[in-house]
Amino acid sequence: MDKLLIRGGRQLRGEVRISGAKNAALPELCACLLTAQPVTLANVPRLQDVSTMLKLIRNMGVSAEWGEDGSVRVNAGGLSSPEAPYELVKTMRASVLALGPLLARFGEATVSLPGGCAIGSRPVDQHIKGLQAMGAEIVVEHGYMLAKLAMVNGTRRSRLQGAHITTDMVTVTGTENFLMAAALAQGETILENAAQEPEIIDLAEMLIQMGAKIEGHGSSCIHIQGVEQLQGCSHQVVADRIEAGTFLCAVAATGGDVVLQHGRADHLGAVIEKLRDAGAIISTVTEGIRVQSPGPAHQYLKAQSFRTTEYPGFPTDMQAQFMVLNAIAQGTSRVTETIFENRFMHVNELVRLGAHIQIDGKVAVIEGVEQLSAATVMATDLRASASLVIAGLVAEGDTVVERIYHLDRGYDQMETKLQGLGADIERLK
Ligand code: UD1
Repeated sequence: MDKLLIRGGRQLRGEVRISGAKNAALPELCACLLTAQPVTLANVPRLQDVSTMLKLIRNMGVSAEWGEDGSVRVNAGGLSSPEAPYELVKTMRASVLALGPLLARFGEATVSLPGGCAIGSRPVDQHIKGLQAMGAEIVVEHGYMLAKLAMVNGTRRSRLQGAHITTDMVTVTGTENFLMAAALAQGETILENAAQEPEIIDLAEMLIQMGAKIEGHGSSCIHIQGVEQLQGCSHQVVADRIEAGTFLCAVAATGGDVVLQHGRADHLGAVIEKLRDAGAIISTVTEGIRVQSPGPAHQYLKAQSFRTTEYPGFPTDMQAQFMVLNAIAQGTSRVTETIFENRFMHVNELVRLGAHIQIDGKVAVIEGVEQLSAATVMATDLRASASLVIAGLVAEGDTVVERIYHLDRGYDQMETKLQGLGADIERLK
């Protein structure tokens, strides 16, 4: 299993290109299933979850080819088997995003239930309830969701029906599934309590280019007027705000001066505000975002308390990375995780690196220390891995981060990008 060896203590300087967003590329690859015409997605990040999604749709009889420029050309004209098997779904929960588009275009789908997930139980009950409200019959058998259009007066419906859906909580992939399903449904769908993430807006804009009629995306209430058919399109995947946020934290922790090309400051409001309060200097430049640190971390960083919430609040996907800053900042902070129940698995590993952190339920209390000291640590999930890499970059000595397949799931060439900024980091096979 690959690991990373990091020799801490180097500042980061230079420019780094932020890739397309994983969490936009995954639903957008599923949106390609909604049409028989070719779709070109540009700026697709090369990472493991994208490879898994490509495998999943190819397995359905869809052709999907990489171009040399980082684009993927998808043609779902030959889709013959609307199924997502357990072997693929178990490695990536986002496979559930195939359910809405398959039902909408084919009137049936067989999608494995996602298995357990390290960061919490993450059920898909809201996806099922919403699609049932749109006229799908969904039964769970042998670990699979077997979905088809419901019978009405002895005949099977020919399309999903528009519906008024209010989810019990804000769900990102749930909102995306409903958007895609509603685009081809008969009549109007109203989504209340919808997620407002930039990735939702990006997906909605792609669907609109395909001919969908959507209004209100980016707010908590989205209206979709279903159409009979969607066409192909070319769409550029929005920049990855979590990758950008991860680099912002890395530079704030190690010191230095870096420009994040294509980084979108307007998608990182809550994170940038906390970084500024902590003492980092962040500005918007023509190329993207510039981050500078005014001195050695423990001399300038001031601990920041925060709670994770839905967008536009502080993202749960940035909690672990920001915690490293708090671990080496002056003062004590409280970090409250409200989205997932088990998302503090990086804490024990950070403690192995010398951090002072105690967990009390949903709250981690972090007492800043002057310096972390290198150790061998184990990555447990995607964003936890990123936090351990940042911790390794600042710790004194040689840190080894094991099980970095978690990191490879969601970051496009993380260590190559860090090397380009002057980090001493190498992959050990
Ligand atoms: C997406 C992101 C993930 C991010 C998360 C929260 C993708 C591919 N993944 O995950 O990176 O961490 O949003 O910002 O975009 N819930 C239910 N029932 C459901 C659906 C959700 O109980 O049917 C709960 C979840 O367990 C969780 C909360 O709702 O506690 C939010 O989850 P959700 O927004 O659905 O996360 P994902 O879309 O899976």
